[in-house]
Amino acid sequence: MIDVHPETKEAMSASDWKAAYRKGTPHWADDLSPSLFAQEFVGEMKKAKAKTVLEVGSGNGRDSIFFARAGFNATAMDISPEAVDMASKNAQDADVTISARVANAEALPFEGNAFDAFFSLSVMHSTKLDKSLPEVARVLKDGGLAFIYLYGNTITAKGKTTDVIKLDDYIKLLHEHGFILLDFYAEQEDEFDDAGEKHRLFVALLQNGCHGCMHVGKAGRSVCLHGNSLSAF
Ligand SMILES: C[S@@+](CC[C@H](N)C(=O)[O-])C[C@H]1O[C@@H](n2cnc3c(N)ncnc32)[C@H](O)[C@@H]1O
Repeated sequence: MIDVHPETKEAMSASDWKAAYRKGTPHWADDLSPSLFAQEFVGEMKKAKAKTVLEVGSGNGRDSIFFARAGFNATAMDISPEAVDMASKNAQDADVTISARVANAEALPFEGNAFDAFFSLSVMHSTKLDKSLPEVARVLKDGGLAFIYLYGNTITAKGKTTDVIKLDDYIKLLHEHGFILLDFYAEQEDEFDDAGEKHRLFVALLQNGCHGCMHVGKAGRSVCLHGNSLSAF
């Protein structure tokens, strides 16, 4: 059984995120320019001929709006009703159509196999990964693409380190839920941000494996019956 580190006092809870929006526009929702990760992911989605994309933790909607502009059918989802209103209004102002709704990443309100692609930037470390990752695998079509950027830890300027999940445990959890790692890196930030924190970043481009397909060990590797390797990393 993988040891998923419990949420700590320092991790933002669902009510913390909601409260942050009720106080006014939070700093991460100031800028509507799409992230560089979203720009790169559009290239991957085009290569994979994806049409539908779900963004979890969409904030002001900047990346879902960018996906819609690039021709994808984009669904933006956030736990904060204020964030969802903001994303809807920003999409309207940008004259693009997105579907935006309030929901928790740990219980996605969608049928299985609903999306060709999934995107989440700086959100999933606030969720219980042993609940949210299987939800991603469930709503993604077999072979669908997922981009997930999360914090593996947080180090404060006072020197306190809080782990969300260790690298090995995260990789194991991804494999356990049938994800194939197409690209992955872990990076420790050098500088403290304005909140006096720096993080270990885990950045993953994943492919949803074949669920329900038996996995067989082959020369130390786990391979599904369609021949997809589940242990490229
Ligand atoms: C740091 S912001 C990032 C917003 C956006 N991804 C961006 O890069 O601009 C994190 C967002 O995730 C949302 N969030 C936090 N926990 C969530 C959960 N369990 N389910 C869905 N959204 C969540 C927050 O409300 C917030 O809008």
